[in-house]
Amino acid sequence: MKLTSTPSKDAIRTALQQCRSRTLKLFEKIDDATFYQQIHPDFSPIGWHLGHIGYTEALWLLEYSAQHPPLFPQYRQLYAADGLPKKERVKLPTPAQTRELLEIIREKVLKYLEIAPLQEQERLWHFIIQHESQHGETIAILLHLQQWNQKNNPQIPQFSNPGSLPKNEMIEIPAGAFEMGSDAIEALDNERSRHYRHLQTYWIDPYPVTCGQYREFIAAGGYDNPKWWSLEGWEWLQANAVKQPLYWIDNPALDNHPVYGVSWYEADAYSRFVGKRLPTEAEWEKAASWDAANATKRLYPWGEEKPTFQCNHDILIGGTTPVNAYPEGVSFYGCYDMLGNVWEWTCSWFEGYEGFQFYPYPGYSQIYFDGKHRVLKGGSWATYPWVLRCSFRNWYHPGVRQILAGFRCVKSEY
Ligand code: AVJ
Ligand code: FE
Repeated sequence: MKLTSTPSKDAIRTALQQCRSRTLKLFEKIDDATFYQQIHPDFSPIGWHLGHIGYTEALWLLEYSAQHPPLFPQYRQLYAADGLPKKERVKLPTPAQTRELLEIIREKVLKYLEIAPLQEQERLWHFIIQHESQHGETIAILLHLQQWNQKNNPQIPQFSNPGSLPKNEMIEIPAGAFEMGSDAIEALDNERSRHYRHLQTYWIDPYPVTCGQYREFIAAGGYDNPKWWSLEGWEWLQANAVKQPLYWIDNPALDNHPVYGVSWYEADAYSRFVGKRLPTEAEWEKAASWDAANATKRLYPWGEEKPTFQCNHDILIGGTTPVNAYPEGVSFYGCYDMLGNVWEWTCSWFEGYEGFQFYPYPGYSQIYFDGKHRVLKGGSWATYPWVLRCSFRNWYHPGVRQILAGFRCVKSEY
């Protein structure tokens, strides 16, 4: 038992520490006012996310697993996911107290890891690492949004290469079965179980929709023409008076960057404008992960190698990159940017796969199987590596624009 569990304990410890160092790096960028501020009404303040990361780690690893008494019972209601409405999450411990809370918990967690029965708990430890990763991305999004709100004249990101994209023709994905989802120990409840799906032939864009392409929709009066919008989308548009994507910079230097800061409704309308549609999550996942030559599923579009230079993620750049900037990350079928750069909206509602079993609690995925959340795939420029993979599913209300989401289109004869 000891022999097999020791190497994975090292891996877990390293992952916990590497994940935390990213979160602490974000912490450094946050001044006091930002820490407490609710930057957008749909999101909790950054200071809450930081405390909630520690609270969740302590709850599952120290209280429920190690059977420690609660370390910070006074914060339970504040930091529990179902404790307080988001706008009441502004009376927070100070940044210094929060940092200390994270440190105290982490010290005990690493001590516990030495004696923890990992063969029974490995899945939970992976969950905790991915939980922090997801809140880390949310913090990065909120910082991005705050900077956006403050600057009227945002900087053009580096790496712009205007000009038309090579080989920008839709890719045929021939009819056939592929494997969807994952049974890996890291897989979250909503990714399970891995199962076969058969799809008819469809065609998919090799790149996410670019700012250059999206500009044509704006210029053609796309935001004023109900023809392109679903009924619900048009209602959303009337209620929100939106004229362009949230993170829109009107500069041809960015024409090859993916458009992002669009709601699902805008993505859906653009797709109709170009005579296409949004992919189902199965269509997206097959194009990203299926190796048809070997009839195997890849963890990443490029294979099994952990992401480093193959895509724009992990806040390595701090913004978008041209959609063809990462040829190393291309999928078997030839799609670029399936992971990283921007999340991609799909037309699928978030639901459990057959035989779904919640883990570790119904509030992680199950309560969102409500027909009100759309699935997003692929991760963004701010996604931590532990949640970057083809089977990972994200979900948001279709009207959300603050997340780093764009889309690509598909076409089919059905
Ligand atoms: C999957 C990103 C929508 O942040 O609300 C974090 C992830 N769940 N803590 C979220 C999550 C519980 C979730 N998203
Ligand atoms: Fe959480």
